[in-house]
Amino acid sequence: MGFQKNVSIQPATNLLESGSVAAPSYSDSERTRLRARIKQLLNEKDAVLVAHYYVDAEIQELAEETGGTVADSLEMARFGANHPASTLVVAGVRFMGETAKILNPEKTVIMPTLQAECSLDISAPIDKFSSFCDKNLDRTVVVYANTSAAVKARADWVVTSSNAVAIIEHLHEKGQKVLWAPDKHLGKYIQQQTNADMLIWDGACVVHEAFKSDTLENLRKHYPEAAVLVHPESPSGVIAQADVVGSTTSLIQAVTELPNRQFIVATDNGIFYKMKQKARNKQLIEAPTAGVGATCESCAHCPWMAMNSLNNLAAALEAMENEIVIDETIREKAMQPLLKMLSFQQKPEKSRRH
Ligand code: 13P
Ligand code: SF4
Repeated sequence: MGFQKNVSIQPATNLLESGSVAAPSYSDSERTRLRARIKQLLNEKDAVLVAHYYVDAEIQELAEETGGTVADSLEMARFGANHPASTLVVAGVRFMGETAKILNPEKTVIMPTLQAECSLDISAPIDKFSSFCDKNLDRTVVVYANTSAAVKARADWVVTSSNAVAIIEHLHEKGQKVLWAPDKHLGKYIQQQTNADMLIWDGACVVHEAFKSDTLENLRKHYPEAAVLVHPESPSGVIAQADVVGSTTSLIQAVTELPNRQFIVATDNGIFYKMKQKARNKQLIEAPTAGVGATCESCAHCPWMAMNSLNNLAAALEAMENEIVIDETIREKAMQPLLKMLSFQQKPEKSRRH
């Protein structure tokens, strides 16, 4: 992690080639040993690996090789219920493990580390969030999946970046006013897309908030043919320059489907593993996190996603530790808005294309 302030980025330093995503450095023999041990333990413990696109490439690779999944937060939520394994090993951040447990109470859910938080989740503590809801009882409460189980339990709907626009459009069409939490940038984007009446919580993702619109503008001049792909947790000045705005899955799809040879990508650089795998001949360029007012400490890689490693994954499986435990009353309440989301008749994702 580095600290950058008012640094002008040279475009070439932004190039991220296949396999260059930073990962803990193991010796070859240590990596081979850990990979073999994890595979063996997944078998022995009747466990399956459910990984997010932002975790280190070698964990994504292991999930693929062992019949698990690498997915966005919506598909991670769906996967556990449709898989026969009795244990789900969730490599991501804590709200992802909690969502898996809320939806699969009969299964054991463990994580490589329980310290992997999310700045959005942290920004919405249940007591403050609850009194915000109490003051706005006329509004339908819609929360992003990046929240605690207790916050979900207080919500009418849970959404992810894959379905947020479609679900709030649906609520708006029914004449409902929305209380939205916690991501203010995503909230503003949804509001612009739907015209819904939204009261928006003041939270942000430390990773996406760091993308800078001024240096992005300069970078685009160096790569005039590049398509700009942006996750909607980014600031509005960055979203305004996007060719595609959408969930991690839709950004990966864009790399495979658009004819462009070059892509500037404004999301966590863990996603480059999958993008490179699906489109080997395309050039991927990190959107800049330096520029006027820059205080980037995450620099396009989520510090909490980065806490997942082969080492702590093997250790968690070995000891069956770091189990997600949720109070049953909260779990049952939190399950309702999650089930509503999963049964929402999702048309193809509304990712914006110019
Ligand atoms: P997705 O739902 O698009 O995978 O995003 C999750 C997330 O945490 C983005 O920062
Ligand atoms: Fe949370 Fe941002 Fe990390 Fe996603 S990238 S888990 S929103 S802190």
